[in-house]
Amino acid sequence: MRQVIRPPGRIEAAAAPPGDKSISHRAALLNAIARGSAHVSNFCVGDDRTSMLRCLRGLGVRIRRHSQCGVSQADECFEVRGLGMEGLSEPRSALNAGNSGTTMRLVTGLLAAQPFFSVITGDRSLNSRPMDRIITPLRAMGATISGRSDDSLAPLAIRGGDLQGIEYTLPVASAQLKSCILIAGLHAEGDTTVRQPAQSRDHTERMMKAMGADVSVDGLEITVRRSELSTLDIRVPADISGAAFWLVAGCCHPNARIRVEGVGINASRTGVLDVLNAMGGRITVENVREEQGEPSADLVAESSMLHGVDISGDIVPRVIDELPVLALAACFATGTTTIRDANELRVKESDRIAATIDGLSRLGANVEERDDGMTVHGGAHLTGSECSSFGDHRIAMTMGIAGLLAKGETTVDGAEAAAVSYPGFWQTLNDLAQRP
Ligand code: S3P
Repeated sequence: MRQVIRPPGRIEAAAAPPGDKSISHRAALLNAIARGSAHVSNFCVGDDRTSMLRCLRGLGVRIRRHSQCGVSQADECFEVRGLGMEGLSEPRSALNAGNSGTTMRLVTGLLAAQPFFSVITGDRSLNSRPMDRIITPLRAMGATISGRSDDSLAPLAIRGGDLQGIEYTLPVASAQLKSCILIAGLHAEGDTTVRQPAQSRDHTERMMKAMGADVSVDGLEITVRRSELSTLDIRVPADISGAAFWLVAGCCHPNARIRVEGVGINASRTGVLDVLNAMGGRITVENVREEQGEPSADLVAESSMLHGVDISGDIVPRVIDELPVLALAACFATGTTTIRDANELRVKESDRIAATIDGLSRLGANVEERDDGMTVHGGAHLTGSECSSFGDHRIAMTMGIAGLLAKGETTVDGAEAAAVSYPGFWQTLNDLAQRP
């Protein structure tokens, strides 16, 4: 699917991104192995949620749409019937995680502890992303796992069983890897301790604690012990990674004001706010509130005079999914923005360093590639052109926002990729773009 975008003269709008994908996935998975039943409202939409729910249903979990607990028609609510720690059943066929890295890595943590055989696979992109990072610690805990390409890639074949706790220092600050080990650790004998090189999103440890697990957090170190969980009703906040596109549109368009309501502002996810603020972005945070341990707020972004910044070090895991759209923002800043220490971008749904540089360069941006990021020289005047999503939802949406800001007409090929996390994205963008 191709999308053609022209820049509007003015943007005065409200956007409503879907429920947070990371929180929704954990709410489904952890409630599935808890005792009782729970309602999860404002559940994320899109292909990635289908992937997680399909895998859990493949393990015998009953999850159904519920019409009554959402606050509006658009609010998708699910009821999850927990099976307890030992209630999952052997899947009859391979579990399919689609394009979703979170699904594959978190579900594999669960499978590693099950006394049965399972296979998990994904699409072409997911089956080329590194899985040795989860195989190594899960094997050390006692699981039998093998994979394609010298045990580094999916499909993975898993024979789970009695696990022993481990102490493990993560080689990368990855929330998926951390969560995989913590989920396995919930079932293991003894303590499981993970040490992170930097803070990554902490939804797993927060939710486990809220469900009654024996989890302790000491700085960057988390310890979990074998625990039974109790189900928890959860209202998922809007996804800050989806909101980020509108925040950048609001700050970079010369005549804009965009409001995004009920966005999750967990500190391990707000790197995008910190970076835009440091660049001089005019973003107001209103109505801060908290539900089930996850804070949220309404965000308003207005036309701003941005300047270049350095994005590197500990902030990178807190802003990892927003770096492509921040690179776009940097094109509209004065001065230079450097993105470093972001090698993980190379192993996302696409090589996001190469894909971002390709797209922005086609529009006339002055961007240089680094092994671990990029350097963006601001002040270029972007002009619409043809570009590709590279089959990656975040690249599709970044180029869509570029189309709102560049002169003339921008065409995004493979625009359907946005549906992985934000099926309504193009509708909202077209509504904004149609204004004179
Ligand atoms: C996610 C963690 C991040 C992020 C991904 C979702 C999660 O990946 O890029 O979109 O839900 O845990 P890593 O933890 O691998 O960096």
